[in-house]
Amino acid sequence: MNTRKIRIWDLPTRLFHWLLVVLVVAAYVTGQMGGSMIEWHGRAGVAITGLLAFRIVWGIVGSTYARFADFVPTPGRIGSYLRGQWNRPGHNPLGALSVFALLAIMIFQAVTGLFSNDEIAFSGPLRDLVSSATSDQLSGLHRQNYWVIIVFVALHVGAVMFYALVKKDDLVKPMITGVKEVADPAHEPARGGGTVAFIVALALTAAVLYFATGSFIEPPPPPPPAAW
Ligand code: HEM
Ligand code: HEM
Repeated sequence: MNTRKIRIWDLPTRLFHWLLVVLVVAAYVTGQMGGSMIEWHGRAGVAITGLLAFRIVWGIVGSTYARFADFVPTPGRIGSYLRGQWNRPGHNPLGALSVFALLAIMIFQAVTGLFSNDEIAFSGPLRDLVSSATSDQLSGLHRQNYWVIIVFVALHVGAVMFYALVKKDDLVKPMITGVKEVADPAHEPARGGGTVAFIVALALTAAVLYFATGSFIEPPPPPPPAAW
């Protein structure tokens, strides 16, 4: 059978994925260690927030297979996948469900983290925007949701291994090289997601980080001079 190689995952999508993996592991480890490592946890968390913001914009302006519209798991698409009639590069409709679920739970973790406090000395940068009770509540959700992350990441890696071992379809290599071998001549390489799109995505990411790091919050007034 004649096969050819086409570009499916652009560089920003691949960098997003592997940086996300490294930073989520770092956030998990530093979050569990607590103590002074919580400062690093906050930095990893803010970096993850930036990555997620970038991926959302890239899902609109990125190249063909990175666009959300390309892989929205509609009932029709899921049906055709389950009937074995799905034959397109990019995320398949079931994989897409897990992609959206992973993105949603990561966003939830990042947003709750920004408002959390560790009851000792560390707080997320937006903690002062909410009451103590709300911050404590969000810290609780932040602690519970990492279990959800563990379950979904385990399912995700399990699914990737299932594809490799049972379906003999290596999904990891394209996520590293960006290139996939396809047999169908109708399959087109990814288009778009050029420099302008990248700059737009970076600018919007910077705007999100400006808010996420609380840079707009007025510093508290200096304490009045001590009375002699
Ligand atoms: C999105 C990726 C993140 C992951 C996977 C993550 C994971 C964790 C984990 C595992 C803990 C320890 C929970 C425990 O003590 O049982 C934790 C605590 C914490 N995280 Fe995150 N976190 C993330 C993002 C963030 C962000 C963006 C911030 C804020 C900048 C943040 C702030 C905190 C704080 C303040 C705590 C202490 C909460 C407490 O002790 O109740 N996290 N996180
Ligand atoms: C913290 C752990 C991980 C998280 C949060 C995560 C998250 C994600 C997300 C959000 C995507 C969608 C990519 C996109 O379109 O932007 C994805 C895809 C993918 N991930 Fe992960 N991932 C994790 C770990 C891993 C690991 C360890 C591997 C390798 C074994 C892996 C292999 C893949 C592959 C091959 C795809 C593409 C799937 C496809 O072809 O449809 N991931 N992952």
